[in-house]
Amino acid sequence: MEIDGEDDYFVKNTPPKNINEVERKTKEFMKYQQEKGRRIVLVTSGGTTVPLENQTVRFVDNFSAGTRGSASAEYFIENGYAVIFLYRQHSLRPYSRHYSHSKNCFLDMLDIDKDNIIVNDKYKESMKSILERYKKTKAENLLLEIDFFTVKDYFFYLNKITKILATMEEKSMYYLAAAVSDFFIPPERMVEHKIQSGEGALKLSLDQVPKFLKPLVSEWAPKGFIVSFKLETDPALLISKARKALKRYGHQIVIGNMLLTRKKVVHFITNDEERKIEMTEEELNNGIEIETKIISELIKKHDQWINQSEANN
Ligand code: PMT
Repeated sequence: MEIDGEDDYFVKNTPPKNINEVERKTKEFMKYQQEKGRRIVLVTSGGTTVPLENQTVRFVDNFSAGTRGSASAEYFIENGYAVIFLYRQHSLRPYSRHYSHSKNCFLDMLDIDKDNIIVNDKYKESMKSILERYKKTKAENLLLEIDFFTVKDYFFYLNKITKILATMEEKSMYYLAAAVSDFFIPPERMVEHKIQSGEGALKLSLDQVPKFLKPLVSEWAPKGFIVSFKLETDPALLISKARKALKRYGHQIVIGNMLLTRKKVVHFITNDEERKIEMTEEELNNGIEIETKIISELIKKHDQWINQSEANN
């Protein structure tokens, strides 16, 4: 099947079963936040999978733990934004991320005291602070979480949510940190059952998915503030490819990062500037995350984007 573009893709592929429910929840969430006068950011996070069988046993995956997205969601919330968190099932989520890694198993933070379970003194302070922020977020309804597994479902949700948020025009932001597959198996070439071994090497042929950033910028949310990421492993390519993406899609900012240094250095590429944001050793040793710097910079740029559009109207 030739995939010409966006419309073709959404016609030829089957939407996720709960797409109407996601639509309803998104509209409800947006209405609530608008009544409170809050801005909303859509944060995408985690890797997308490309199943090899309809009844999926095997799939091709994209690298991402979901650290960038889940940490960023927390910092957006701390700065007054409401967040729609579109994340890969079982990847890191805001707040719970502090306890879900194997290095940080929550069971090691607990003790048994007769019939009670208590938090070990060593962890009390930090856990209290995270718990307080988590409870406040819930109480104030600042976070809507929607999970995906396949790249196809990711695109359906992205399309639906973006088009709903776009009605907030400049006040909406799109922070596309998910690691999105560029390839997929079109529905008519997908086998139903588990691919059997015993017939030699497995040869796969994947089609290219349409670059959805293009319609997202020009049609789905033309007034929104759009941030995409560029991930590379070859340092010689990073800046030029990030700049190329900015030019090609015409959105506001591309954040370039290298696989091995993504927690220490990122590059902000806009039409007017190219800036490196870097963590010092001291900041890293003190547990400060690069996302605090990324988010505070982006909020300033989002303010400018809103002010500029108000001045033009
Ligand atoms: O989760 P962590 O472990 O913390 O890692 C974070 C990260 C490295 C995954 C993150 O910082 C990052 O770089 N995410 C984007 C990775 C990626 O998909 O890069 P790309 O070069 O393949 O795509 C560039 C952009 O185009 C992305 O913002 C994506 O939303 C968009 N895209 C990609 C494919 C596609 N078919 N359509 C798209 O619109």
